[in-house]
Amino acid sequence: MPHRLLGNNQAWARATKARDPGFFTRLAQQQTPRYMWIGCADSRVPANEIVGLDPGEVFVHRNVANVVVHSDLNALSTVQFAVEHLKVEHIFVVGHYGCAGVRAAMRGLRVGLADNWLRHVHDVRLRHRKRLDHLPPEQQEDILCEMNVIEQVGNVALSTVIQDAWARGQPVAVHGWVYGLRDGLLKDLQVTMDRTETVVETFSAAIKRYRRVATATGTEALTLPDDDD
Ligand code: CO
Repeated sequence: MPHRLLGNNQAWARATKARDPGFFTRLAQQQTPRYMWIGCADSRVPANEIVGLDPGEVFVHRNVANVVVHSDLNALSTVQFAVEHLKVEHIFVVGHYGCAGVRAAMRGLRVGLADNWLRHVHDVRLRHRKRLDHLPPEQQEDILCEMNVIEQVGNVALSTVIQDAWARGQPVAVHGWVYGLRDGLLKDLQVTMDRTETVVETFSAAIKRYRRVATATGTEALTLPDDDD
């Protein structure tokens, strides 16, 4: 007896073909997605379904906590392929509330190998601790989910791939969204970057929407100090 998933697949392929007889022939020839999605690996955040797109319409890269690191050749190669070969016009960095990776980084929990990966999210937390530490714990996690997206949008925008694309006049915009597991809705964090000149300004404006309060206690985590502390 075939595995249940293989049975599901056969039913899906039949139904798709019945709805649109040319679907697979068309897709087999080439993909021409206009969008790229960089999201969390979390099983509750399936890229295509959330935005109502079919196979072939969105080029996807997912990892734990939707992080884009300047030395991650996996993510950067995917972005380069999307921009230079597929000519996507919009890249969405999509975080989600209730992200276990962000929670671990926020609470300093040890989860395993991923601790080293989540250190990048932890760094985001430390960088903006004056905007986070004064909030109640549940809110801190939600806000860190948002701030992590804002930081990653900046990382994508400052990558060599996007900098080169903008330098040659190729239109590609990088957006930051966050997804709500409770209501299924996406929120635009208004951090869209579409040219080099406005990256810093857009980033600062997005971060400054979160109130900065100097707290007496500060963070308890072991960290290297900012140079203005
Ligand atoms: Co997540």
